[in-house]
Amino acid sequence: MSDRLMLKVGGSVITDKSGDCTINHQQLESIAVSIARAIDGELLVVHGAGSCGHPEAKQYRINEGVTRGYAEGISITHYAVSKLNIAVVTALREQGIDAIGIHPLHVAYANDRKLVSFEYRQLDQMLKLGMVPVIHGDVVMDHKRGSCIISGDQIVRYLAPLLGMHRVGLATDVPGVLDGGAVVPVITPASVPSLQIGSSSHTDVTGGMKGKINELLDLAKAGIESEIFHVSHISDFLFGRDCSGTKVSMKG
Ligand code: IPE
Repeated sequence: MSDRLMLKVGGSVITDKSGDCTINHQQLESIAVSIARAIDGELLVVHGAGSCGHPEAKQYRINEGVTRGYAEGISITHYAVSKLNIAVVTALREQGIDAIGIHPLHVAYANDRKLVSFEYRQLDQMLKLGMVPVIHGDVVMDHKRGSCIISGDQIVRYLAPLLGMHRVGLATDVPGVLDGGAVVPVITPASVPSLQIGSSSHTDVTGGMKGKINELLDLAKAGIESEIFHVSHISDFLFGRDCSGTKVSMKG
């Protein structure tokens, strides 16, 4: 691995999505070990919220907008996902990786649930210094709605072109995008309407697999291919090997 890479780890991989902020420390350790063995070039990690943020975001209806007097869900949701971020950063640091947590609430702004700014120059400098920024899906302030939830996938789509990422990988708890039980090897803007993509049974305020694919199709249109694969293939992704997952690309 010598390129500049972005790895998103889904919230359902590192938490138990059916419980209340139940962090899977064993999984985090095994991910950190895989990264430590493979790291060579520059790496940025993004993670989702799983059960540390989605239930709070839903309970306080953050994505429906926030008004004065009803804002406490912002800090409660941010606190939940920040706890997970600390666990991810700690697991990476325990394997000797110079990881550092970055919180979108502090550096990003949205309008009508879309990111409109995200300061990324500090990330560029950190990557050049060999640090590993660890960013997460978060609650951010929103021009139209007061506040909203920004998924890790939207962050990937927004930051990957700005930071000149060479490869983007998304580790999930499934082997890729499934259509009728089989992994779809490639998704393009032309093939997506014919796919039957199921929705997650867990609490997910940011659109599950469909939301992910839409963000990745936008990323492909911006010139960056990505791949969705099972978490057990993180090493393969980092080493540039086949991940047996789903590529999201402009061409099939
Ligand atoms: C959601 O992030 C962030 C919050 C709910 C605070 P994601 O949408 O990226 O999380 P996962 O990967 O689906 O759990």
